[in-house]
Amino acid sequence: MPLNNKVAVVTGATGVLCSAMVEALLAAGAKVALLARRAAVAEELKVALAAKGYDQTLVVAADVLDRPALIAARETILKTWGRLDILVNGAGGNDPKGTTPAEQFTADTAREQSFFGLDLAGFEAVNRLNFMGTLLPSQVFTEAMLETGGSVVNISSVAATQPLTKVGAYAAAKAAVDNHTKWLATHLAPRNIRVNAITPGFFITSQNRYLLLEKDEVTPTARGKKVIAKTPMRRYGEAKELGGALVFLASDAASFVTGANLAVDGGFTSFAGV
Ligand SMILES: NC(=O)c1ccc[n+]([C@@H]2O[C@H](COP(=O)([O-])OP(=O)(O)OC[C@H]3O[C@@H](n4cnc5c(N)ncnc54)[C@H](O)[C@@H]3O)[C@@H](O)[C@H]2O)c1
Repeated sequence: MPLNNKVAVVTGATGVLCSAMVEALLAAGAKVALLARRAAVAEELKVALAAKGYDQTLVVAADVLDRPALIAARETILKTWGRLDILVNGAGGNDPKGTTPAEQFTADTAREQSFFGLDLAGFEAVNRLNFMGTLLPSQVFTEAMLETGGSVVNISSVAATQPLTKVGAYAAAKAAVDNHTKWLATHLAPRNIRVNAITPGFFITSQNRYLLLEKDEVTPTARGKKVIAKTPMRRYGEAKELGGALVFLASDAASFVTGANLAVDGGFTSFAGV
C-alpha cells in the first residue's frame, strides 16, 4: 500500500472532510494521529475507525494555535511510533463572525450588513485559525521530518483564488495558505520535505450548510444554486473524493511534487461561469 510504514498527523481530524481524509490515509496503510481540540471527540472517532478495522490511530489533543500543545502532541507521536512523515493541515474553516451578510454594497445596503460593519475580531479570528493554524503546526511537526523527509498537505479553498462574496476573511486567509504553501515548499525542499495543497470545491459540511442549504436541509439556497451552476460536474463533492488526491500527495508517488495545488472541485476553478 502506498503509505505503508508512514506516520501521519491530521489536524482537525474529527471534522467532516478531515475524518474522511483520516480514513483514506489509514486505508492506504498509514498510522494516523488524530489531532483535535477535544480528546473525547477524537476518542469517539478512534472507536468508530476501530470498528471499521483501522486500529493504527492515536489521539493527540491540541489547539492548532497553541504551540506548546502542538509540541507535546509531536512528542507523543514520536514516543509512540518513532517517526513522523505526513502532516495534513485540515483544521480551519469559515465563521459567520468573519462574514458580511450582504454580497455587495448597493445604495440600499445597510452599513452593518456590509464591509463597513465587519466584525474585525471575527475577521481576525478566521484569519488566525486558517493561516496561523496552518503555519504553526507546519513549524512544529516538520521539525520531526528534518532528517527523514516528509510531506505536508495544506487544505486550501476555491476562495483563495476566486474570493467568494461574504467570506472575505476566509478568502484572504486561504490565499495566504496558498502563498505560504509555495514559500515553505521552497524553504524545506533541501530537506526533502514536500509542501503541497489541496483545493476542495464545495462539500456540504457543518460550516457551510447555512450558506448552501435552506433550513429544510434539502433545498439549495440561492447561493447553493449559483455554486452548482458554476460547477461543471453539477454537484457538490463527497468527502471521500478528497482521498485520492491526499494519498497521492502524501506518498512517494509524488516524490518530485512540491509547491503544487491540486483542485478537487468538479471543475469549479476551471469554469468562468459563462
Ligand atoms: N466544506 C467545504 O466545502 C470546504 C471547501 C474548501 C475547503 N474546506 C476546508 O477543509 C477543512 C476541513 O473543513 P470541514 O469543512 O471538514 O469543516 P469541519 O468544521 O467539519 O472541520 C474542521 C475541524 O477543525 C477543527 N478545529 C477548528 N478550530 C480548531 C483549532 N483551533 N484547533 C484544532 N482544531 C480546530 C474543528 O473542531 C473541526 O473538527 C478546513 O480547512 C476548511 O476550510 C472546506
